[in-house]
Amino acid sequence: MAEHSQPNQPKRVLSGMRPTGKLHLGHYHGALKNWRSLQDGYECFYFVADWHALTTDYGDTEIFANHVVDMVIDWLATGIDPGKASIFLQSAVPEHAELHLLLSMTTPLSWLERVPSYKEQQTRLEGKSLDTYGFLGYPLLQAADILIYAAEFVPVGGDQAAHVELTREVARRFNHLHRAPVLAEPAALHTQVAKLPGLDGQKMSKSYNNAIALREAPESVAKKIRTMPTDPARVRRTDPGDPAKCPVWQFHQVYSDANTRDWVREGCVSAGIGCVDCKKPVIEAVLAELAPIRETARHYENNPDEVRDIIRQGSEKARQAASATMDRVRDAMGLSRW
Ligand code: TRP
Ligand code: SF4
Repeated sequence: MAEHSQPNQPKRVLSGMRPTGKLHLGHYHGALKNWRSLQDGYECFYFVADWHALTTDYGDTEIFANHVVDMVIDWLATGIDPGKASIFLQSAVPEHAELHLLLSMTTPLSWLERVPSYKEQQTRLEGKSLDTYGFLGYPLLQAADILIYAAEFVPVGGDQAAHVELTREVARRFNHLHRAPVLAEPAALHTQVAKLPGLDGQKMSKSYNNAIALREAPESVAKKIRTMPTDPARVRRTDPGDPAKCPVWQFHQVYSDANTRDWVREGCVSAGIGCVDCKKPVIEAVLAELAPIRETARHYENNPDEVRDIIRQGSEKARQAASATMDRVRDAMGLSRW
């Protein structure tokens, strides 16, 4: 049996996020709630993927320092607990780079070229030159991130499934070449929680200007929801509407109980309620959800050194785990340590 699958050890979970700064409700419902529940059943490693950010934003390096701390403040504020999960910074664990390099020796270029995000991102970020070595290799760096912890589960959104699949292939090829089960194949863990769209019904994203930040002021949150678009067919208060065509309904699906949802459905199709009434319980629920998050975030904003210590300690724990894998990898590849 491979060393990484000893029966009494809790299974490992690994996930990462690029340092984009302050997070929004889409991150909370799409990822962080899931991360938070996993930390009770698994040995979790959650990291800030600063090298990944460099694969596309290699020109904007001065923003990083603030973005790292800001993002980790939001992790902590939503209940990611450094006593349960190791919170770390990718660049503080240089073993990721070593494994990336070693895996690059045996990874065919065609495997990287056919990852869907490669062509998609190049088209989407057209203004940027992404014909770089680093950008092509980014899914392999992600594979190294995962394999170095022998992670069994990788909670990711659907857009990342191809990367986890590549990771599995890379592990298989390595183990086959070196005739030993050195690298463990991970499984993607798709987020179960209901996803929250942006204010306009599209994916919530800072760059689409449809996001509610986790630390946003309550007045601003209320105003954003009050001015959210609704079913365009409801021009007047007396026009009936269809919840299926309304982003507010998607918010109700995340935030409201069955009774409230019935009230919305019936009131909307019969024009019994107005959109202003309909939005009220959503505003209340979002504000109630954000209040404790904002409060905890304020504590860390006032104590940034505490955040840096958490990252440093988490990185040390991560480094220990990563080193154990690297010892096995170097042995398997005949790179004896001098
Ligand atoms: N590629 C992921 C993203 O852009 C971030 C990431 C990097 C990641 N390495 C990872 C996620 C390893 C899960 C596991 O969102
Ligand atoms: Fe949307 Fe509610 Fe207005 Fe119907 S009543 S259109 S669900 S906001």
